[in-house]
Amino acid sequence: MSRLSRRRFFSLTGGAGALFAAGLAGPRLFGSAATSGELLTSKVPLPAPFQVPLPIPAVLAPIARDADADRYEIVQRQTTVEILPGLRTPIWGYQGTFPGPTIESRSGRTAIVRHRNELPVPTVVHLHGGRTPSESDGYTTDLVLPAGGTHTTHSHGGHTGMQDPHARVTQGMRDYVYPLQQHASTLWYHDHRMDFTGPAVYRGLAGFHLIRDTEEDALPLPHSERELPLMITDRAFAEDGSMHYPSVDRSLTTVHGVEDSYIEGVLGDVILVNGAPWPVAEVSATRHRLRVLNASNARRYDLALDPPPPGGQAFTQIGSDQGLLDTSRVHDHLPIAPAERYDLVVDFGRYPVGSEVTLINRLGTGSTAQVMRFRVARRDKEDSHIPDRLSEIEPLDRAQATVTRDFSFRGGRLGDRHGWTIGGRPYAPSRIDARPRLGDVEIWRFVVDLHHPIHLHLVNFRVLSRGGRAPGPYDAGRKDTVDLRPGEAVEVITRFDGYRGRYMFHCHNLEHEDMGMMANFETI
Ligand code: C2O
Ligand code: CU
Ligand code: CU
Repeated sequence: MSRLSRRRFFSLTGGAGALFAAGLAGPRLFGSAATSGELLTSKVPLPAPFQVPLPIPAVLAPIARDADADRYEIVQRQTTVEILPGLRTPIWGYQGTFPGPTIESRSGRTAIVRHRNELPVPTVVHLHGGRTPSESDGYTTDLVLPAGGTHTTHSHGGHTGMQDPHARVTQGMRDYVYPLQQHASTLWYHDHRMDFTGPAVYRGLAGFHLIRDTEEDALPLPHSERELPLMITDRAFAEDGSMHYPSVDRSLTTVHGVEDSYIEGVLGDVILVNGAPWPVAEVSATRHRLRVLNASNARRYDLALDPPPPGGQAFTQIGSDQGLLDTSRVHDHLPIAPAERYDLVVDFGRYPVGSEVTLINRLGTGSTAQVMRFRVARRDKEDSHIPDRLSEIEPLDRAQATVTRDFSFRGGRLGDRHGWTIGGRPYAPSRIDARPRLGDVEIWRFVVDLHHPIHLHLVNFRVLSRGGRAPGPYDAGRKDTVDLRPGEAVEVITRFDGYRGRYMFHCHNLEHEDMGMMANFETI
């Protein structure tokens, strides 16, 4: 534990006390920590930045299309790829790639994705941000056992050793059905197996799923090669070129979690964008749309452009986690926590041709202070602009809420180990902590000890307040993940719409999630 002493940590996390009255003691203790986690240092020499071109994940072709559904097939398998020049890195990849292939869907058209698990461990696929029926949402115990393996549910002990009587386990494969009754948005899919999500995503199990709709198509936004999905991750590499992750159980079968010094989060010293280290993208001197996703396990970033464009306001934000904003917002810099998405427009026409513009991370130091580079290569015709009105967002008002619920996210005991809790309790797959009625509007209030990016499945929410005040500059729009800083309290409001069933909510710091910081709600 680097930034706080064990003693302070455990005294902080011991007694709940008058949590919601006083808040947690965070800011005074941890105010300076930019991110939760411990840095892992690579054992190989790091390459010079800005040498490799930015890869764009391939768009997956459907294997069949009928009147209202597109069918896809993805094989989850191990393979070896070159991430750092001259080194072979084993990964777990959707279709054997990292990131996995991008799925592009139309709003309201069902996507049916058959996942076949050829990995040595069970997997679960979750479409993050998807408004998905419970049986396809990737519930953490709904395992897809390895194809042809001898794996049974019994070998999946987990930290509680508890079997989930409602688990829907399949052998070898599963069809995930996504109705996608939702707005155009930048979603992503990733592994979600109970206790082992962190190491699985770290090894490569993450990909984009974009939804488009006619509302967005009608807007003159940058498109085609001027629309770039950017999946930002951090990794550390071992001597043999493998991704280094400090799992307690390297087989990822029985004992969950990471070595004690990493329980706040695993941070790497190599920044990858779409799987490439500090890549470079050649762009024309025109507006570009950047769909930024922080798919890191624990690292938070504060993105900015260096040099900033004349007059500042480098980023025009047009969307957040689940689609377009009502109207755009401008930012000089942009904090982004794990699992958050920001849809940005950058006008490279504000730079002279020949400029090198670096996307930097103001929370990083050394190798982690830079993310990627844009080379403004040529002039080109501008055919986009950002209209005043982008989307209609259903306003949700305090007065509409029928229920208010409180949840504290903090460190705590997990059996004989230290872990993370919600409401003082570590995750149990069969315990339901909230039962919202379908269609009801509720306010959920969160308080935290350290940094915790909090994510709800099924819904999107609006941030209602932050720290007892109005929402912050980055809180606009339809969110599904909200970043809380140490000691902070946030209220969100949402309508529990869509489908009945059991869903998870959790911290999206994947080390926290794997070590207890998850809970269930059931829409009834
Ligand atoms: Cu990004 Cu529960 O997930
Ligand atoms: Cu999710
Ligand atoms: Cu957390």
